[in-house]
Amino acid sequence: MTTTTSNSPRRVALVTGGASGLGLATARRLAADGLTLVLADLNLARAQSAAAELPGAGHFGLRCDVGDEASVREAFASAADRAGEVSVLACFAGILSTAPQPGRLATIDISLDEWDRVMQVNARGSFLCIREMLRRAGGRPVPHGRIVTVASLAGQMGGMQSGAAYSASKGAVLALSKVAAREAASLGITVNTVAPGPIDTPMLQLTVPPGNGDQKYMGTAAVPLGRIGLPEEIAAAVGYLVSPDAAFVTGATIDVNGGMLMR
Ligand SMILES: NC(=O)c1ccc[n+]([C@@H]2O[C@H](COP(=O)([O-])OP(=O)(O)OC[C@H]3O[C@@H](n4cnc5c(N)ncnc54)[C@H](O)[C@@H]3O)[C@@H](O)[C@H]2O)c1
Repeated sequence: MTTTTSNSPRRVALVTGGASGLGLATARRLAADGLTLVLADLNLARAQSAAAELPGAGHFGLRCDVGDEASVREAFASAADRAGEVSVLACFAGILSTAPQPGRLATIDISLDEWDRVMQVNARGSFLCIREMLRRAGGRPVPHGRIVTVASLAGQMGGMQSGAAYSASKGAVLALSKVAAREAASLGITVNTVAPGPIDTPMLQLTVPPGNGDQKYMGTAAVPLGRIGLPEEIAAAVGYLVSPDAAFVTGATIDVNGGMLMR
């Protein structure tokens, strides 16, 4: 689906965590849809090489630590300088909390450092990016403005493999997104959340104990559709949310989880 007409400027999308997994798949999708992509990731080399391989021209990667206020500010400023003001933000940067194998990290075993480490990226990182986009809008409408946050089934159900820090950080993303949806509505910016179930990425591999061969996930029996998801299936949901077709959708959570949560 093309979201830019020939006589309108190309929309600029900043994708955090865009160098890997779901962020990268989404960047590919949005680039194919005609947007200019800025891949903002801790890993500069991977962000740059990924941007260079996207379809179309004008994409670039930059180093950004979403948990760092100055870094987020610089990322948006750099995007505006090099490509144009960001009108689409997709917050994919995230980290998992994993247990010494097997199983999930029990709450009684979570150190304060671990709690803060996960919250810093997943919750604070999403907050800082959303705040920066809204601050830069300066109270002016943002044409086709879109923010997509990324929660998780863990934030909705308490987590399968992930423990309290990760699940709570994703619960924070869900609430933050609804607040942002209310506040950004007057600017014409929609804010929605994608809540993935288990999707085939490097992060999911971290949940598989060593010695399990090429197994990608520990529990497809719990997935009604009987498989793990593909990164492109998350990208497709984001593609819809940032398209003109989704102009009247805000404050929503799209579950892409193979039926693991039905509501
Ligand atoms: N893969 C899944 O099954 C799954 C399920 C539910 C939710 N999610 C969420 O989807 C998002 C993407 O996950 P993924 O599976 O693609 O993971 P991934 O590990 O493949 O990619 C995460 C990317 O985020 C980047 N990153 C980490 N910390 C960062 C920081 N402080 N600042 C900027 N970039 C940072 C990493 O460098 C990496 O490129 C995460 O928020 C994750 O919690 C994933």
